[in-house]
Amino acid sequence: MTYDLNLRVWRGDASGGELTDYVVPVEEGEVVLDALHRLQATQTGDLAVRWNCKAGKCGSCSAEINGKPRLTCMTRLSIFEPGETVTVTPLRTFPVIRDLVTDVSYNYEKAKKVPTFSPEPRQADGTYRMQQEDVQRGQEFRKCIECFLCQSVCHVIRDHEENKEAFSGPRLFLRYAELQMHPLETNDHRDAAREESGVGMCNITKCCTEVCPEGIKITDNAIIPVKEHVVDRSYDPVVWLGRKIFRR
Ligand code: SF4
Ligand code: F3S
Ligand code: FES
Repeated sequence: MTYDLNLRVWRGDASGGELTDYVVPVEEGEVVLDALHRLQATQTGDLAVRWNCKAGKCGSCSAEINGKPRLTCMTRLSIFEPGETVTVTPLRTFPVIRDLVTDVSYNYEKAKKVPTFSPEPRQADGTYRMQQEDVQRGQEFRKCIECFLCQSVCHVIRDHEENKEAFSGPRLFLRYAELQMHPLETNDHRDAAREESGVGMCNITKCCTEVCPEGIKITDNAIIPVKEHVVDRSYDPVVWLGRKIFRR
């Protein structure tokens, strides 16, 4: 069945823009990205929209739909009421390049600050040995598709540009958690997690977990363990004394 969708799209660039209304014919079973593509093909050839896989796996098509960060390729039109206007805007936390395309380089800059993996040497027979249980703890974080929906929804930076310098955001907290939990990792990254990532600024609102399309339990399985680990070190009296002595 074909019907007319009321689609409202933010059009503009870094200097400003506005919401523009369109009516787009869509088919039952389609997703928001289908509607954007049809709009681009039939009415607005210059609409800037980023996408790649159309299968929820590349993380490119992130935008805000009716104010919530979502993958446009995985958001079915059937979730909206008949006649409801569907509003698509660029990710709010990152600077706009044009229309629905934002500059997400903040995330890559933060990624550069995460310490590198430093495994212990291989055993005499040339192998590593790990318990399957230990391997599986960090495996969940590997599902991340770098869509940055969690980064866009987090209130610490969503409306506070001034916090971006000190705060890496939930996607990067997964990286710290993975290092911390890796059975072969030899370095202690607690100081880096506290000082470089700003994990202490997270007040566990869990909005990041709610929007993650991969269903990663970002807050419970990554952020809270990293926070606990950092606190262990901060309140360890031996470490505290050592820091006092060596910083003199
Ligand atoms: Fe996207 Fe989830 Fe990865 Fe965040 S953790 S970037 S929401 S896949
Ligand atoms: Fe932000 Fe997630 Fe913490 S949304 S405040 S990083 S729980
Ligand atoms: Fe790849 Fe949507 S186009 S996740």
